[in-house]
Amino acid sequence: MAIDYRTDYRGPGLTDNSLHADPVEQFEEWFRAAQQAGIPEPNAMTLATASAQGEPAARMLLLKQADARGFTFFTNYGSAKAADLDSNPRACLVFFWQALHRQVRVTGSVSRVPLEESAEYFASRPRGAQVGAWASRQSAVLQSRKELEEGVRLVETRFEGKEIPLPPHWGGYRLVPDRVEFWQGQPDRLHDRMVYIRQGAGWRRERLSP
Ligand SMILES: Cc1cc2nc3c(=O)[nH]c(=O)nc-3n(C[C@H](O)[C@H](O)[C@H](O)COP(=O)(O)O)c2cc1C
Repeated sequence: MAIDYRTDYRGPGLTDNSLHADPVEQFEEWFRAAQQAGIPEPNAMTLATASAQGEPAARMLLLKQADARGFTFFTNYGSAKAADLDSNPRACLVFFWQALHRQVRVTGSVSRVPLEESAEYFASRPRGAQVGAWASRQSAVLQSRKELEEGVRLVETRFEGKEIPLPPHWGGYRLVPDRVEFWQGQPDRLHDRMVYIRQGAGWRRERLSP
C-alpha cells in the first residue's frame, strides 16, 4: 500500500511540554497507545547488534518488559545475536508503529538478566515453547527439518510427566538505554524527532532535523 508522505503521515506534534522527562515513561505512554490502537504485536522490535569485528546484524524480537531497569528480551544464549552481544555488548532496538506514524530507537549497553528472572519467565511460557527452547540450537545449521523434529521428540521423552526446567543456554538480556529517539511522522516529511541522551543521573533532550 503506497503512502503519500505529503499528507498521510501526521500525529500530535512532539514538544518539550508534551514529553515526559524520562524516556522510558515516554516509551511506556507510546507503547500503551500502540496497544490501544490495536497494532498487532506492538512489542515486535528490531534488535541490531554488531560483532567484535564490526559486522552488523539485525533481526526481529519481542520486547518482554520495559521499565526503569531497561528493555528486556529473551533468546538463546548460543545464538548468533548472543555471540555478538557477549563480545560487543552495545545494541540498538527499533520499534515501528505504522498506524500511529511512530518510530522509537533505543541505543544502549546490554547484559544478561539474573538466572532467577529467566527461570521465572521460562516457567510462565507454554510447554511447547519450553520444549522448543531445549530442542533448538538457535542459529546453528540443521541438516533437515527432521533433525529438529527428532530433537523435539527427545526433549519430550526426557521431560515426560515432569516440569521443564530453564535450559542452560536460554535466558534474558536487558538493554540499559543511553539514547532514545522518538519520531512522529508529520506532513511533507517535516517529521518531529526528539532524542533523549543520558547525562549523569538524568537526561538531556534535543530536537533533530527530520
Ligand atoms: C515477530 C518476531 C518475533 C521474534 N521474537 C523472538 C524472540 O523474542 N526471541 C528470539 O530469540 N527470536 C525471536 N524471533 C526470531 C529472530 O528474528 C531470529 O530469527 C532468531 O532469534 C535468530 O537470530 P540470530 O541468528 O541473529 O541470533 C522473532 C522473529 C519474529 C519475526
